Amino acid sequence: GKVAVLFGGASAEREVSLMSGNGVLAALRSKGIDAHPFDPAERDLSDLKREGFARCFIALHGRFGEDGTVQGALELLGIPYTGSGVMASSVAMDKVMTKRIWLAEGIPTPRYTLLHKGSFERREVIEVPDTLGLPVIVKPAREGSSIGVTKVMGYSGMASAVEAAGQLDADILCEEFIEGEEVTCPVLGTADGAQALPVIRIVAPEGQYDYQNKYFTDTTQYLVPCGLPAGEEEAIQALVLKAYRVLGCRGWGRVDVMIDGKTRKPYLLEINTSPGMTGHSLVPMSAKATGLSYEDLCVRLLESATT
Ligand code: DAL
Ligand code: MG
Repeated sequence: GKVAVLFGGASAEREVSLMSGNGVLAALRSKGIDAHPFDPAERDLSDLKREGFARCFIALHGRFGEDGTVQGALELLGIPYTGSGVMASSVAMDKVMTKRIWLAEGIPTPRYTLLHKGSFERREVIEVPDTLGLPVIVKPAREGSSIGVTKVMGYSGMASAVEAAGQLDADILCEEFIEGEEVTCPVLGTADGAQALPVIRIVAPEGQYDYQNKYFTDTTQYLVPCGLPAGEEEAIQALVLKAYRVLGCRGWGRVDVMIDGKTRKPYLLEINTSPGMTGHSLVPMSAKATGLSYEDLCVRLLESATT
């Protein structure tokens, strides 16, 4: 039957989602699938039912797409969709909720302080580095693609960083910076059938893997094979699988990790339940290293669509 590729959407990651969605659409069509673009920012989701769409490939990122809202609407419409269900999507969108669950399950994640917009004193903001050290990472609790994220180098940078994150979310996450190596690990499948793909190591120019370097420059280096000792890569994959399963994720995802350069201990930063599928994105890169092409990856994800 007809397949809708949901892309665009109303989040701050709209531009990224348009790139992901265009890639997925072309891939599915190249495999003979009757796929059509559908932008929930421009159309009512109930049209999907009226127009007889049998399945949805969710290529939306961020709020109103990756956060359980669209998933809930599709559940109500009874249309199978790719990726995690309502609860896992919504918990995974929130970096603080994710940390609380991971910490309860013994999964290491950097120490943090949560600030609620409008309910903290100026002094509390300035004192965050007393507890978390410097640099400190300040981010909106529910955003993606590094939008609104600042690496704060000194006490004087705290106020403006909190202000910037607060533009995007009332919940502002301040996180200990783990100095070391930045890696990411995709997962495909569900529950006991979930498998970790090869780890990718990211080496960004001047160490900043920000929005620009994620999508628009060609100066970021992506290492796959990641070059870590085999035992270390396997340990990360096992940890990532556990982190995926305890959140009840389904279909696919990608966990971002920092490895402490001194202790070699991995710290999980977050999980993306609708990972980027752009020409610069990481899940397709890792899949390709196992022999799974972008097109075959899209078909495999579509085949896992469920309600
Ligand atoms: N949030 C972006 C799309 C990613 O994680 O790939
Ligand atoms: Mg993210």
